[in-house]
Amino acid sequence: MSPPDQMPETGPSQFVIAIDGPAASGKSSTSQWVAQRLGIRHVDSGALYRAATAAALRVEPDADRWTPEGVLAAASSIQLVPTDRTFAALLDGQDCDEELRSTAVTSQVSRVARMQPVREWVNARVREAAREHAVVVDGRDIGTAVFPDAALKIFLVADPWERAKRRLVQRLERLPSDGEVAEETERLVQRDAKDSQQTVQAADAVLIDSTYLTQAEQVDRIESLARAVSRNTDGSSEVDGGGWKRYF
Ligand code: DC
Repeated sequence: MSPPDQMPETGPSQFVIAIDGPAASGKSSTSQWVAQRLGIRHVDSGALYRAATAAALRVEPDADRWTPEGVLAAASSIQLVPTDRTFAALLDGQDCDEELRSTAVTSQVSRVARMQPVREWVNARVREAAREHAVVVDGRDIGTAVFPDAALKIFLVADPWERAKRRLVQRLERLPSDGEVAEETERLVQRDAKDSQQTVQAADAVLIDSTYLTQAEQVDRIESLARAVSRNTDGSSEVDGGGWKRYF
């Protein structure tokens, strides 16, 4: 296994919208939709943790034997590549989205996300992507650890029962029974507990509780906030001293 790439320097970023929140709060799909409306790109930071986990599983199936150094070495097979409206985390040059969403990866990804060197590696990849493009980045700590100067920070929450129900409707393509929702809620609450250390709401984040909102309403709200922020920051940069462009 070869060592990971050198960490890039973190230079000034383009326009960044940070969307954080717990598992299954709809961050990724909402971020994708917002990015599409604004004509900018989406970065799913969770996909990088998943890709690092998948890469580690390929090298060493016994997760108890993983070390941060071993996971980082395995992660050298990952590239974050811009596509039409997003960035794809490729493993050995291949799009492996199904593998990244597999139960094997989902059950071990929190362990990898708690490894500080892996967090630094992910943060460097995400910052690199934002140097070239205006982006919507979703994750857990984007507005605090990765882009504390993001132009707009959203913290997206929803009641666990509602999150579980939405996830099941998407997976089963039918209305789930209360028993099914209860079991999924239990799993989600356990995942939230495992990720709680990394899931941080920035003091200057706008809290959106989507329990009683449709996804279109969430997207409308974030799009309006983004356009307001873009107008208000035009010409007066707090990021790089050069003045933010009007992006949309
Ligand atoms: O959002 P997700 O389920 O794809 O995230 C996968 C894992 O990565 C989950 O354990 C939380 C973690 N994660 C993190 O710790 N920090 C981020 N910025 C994004 C995800």
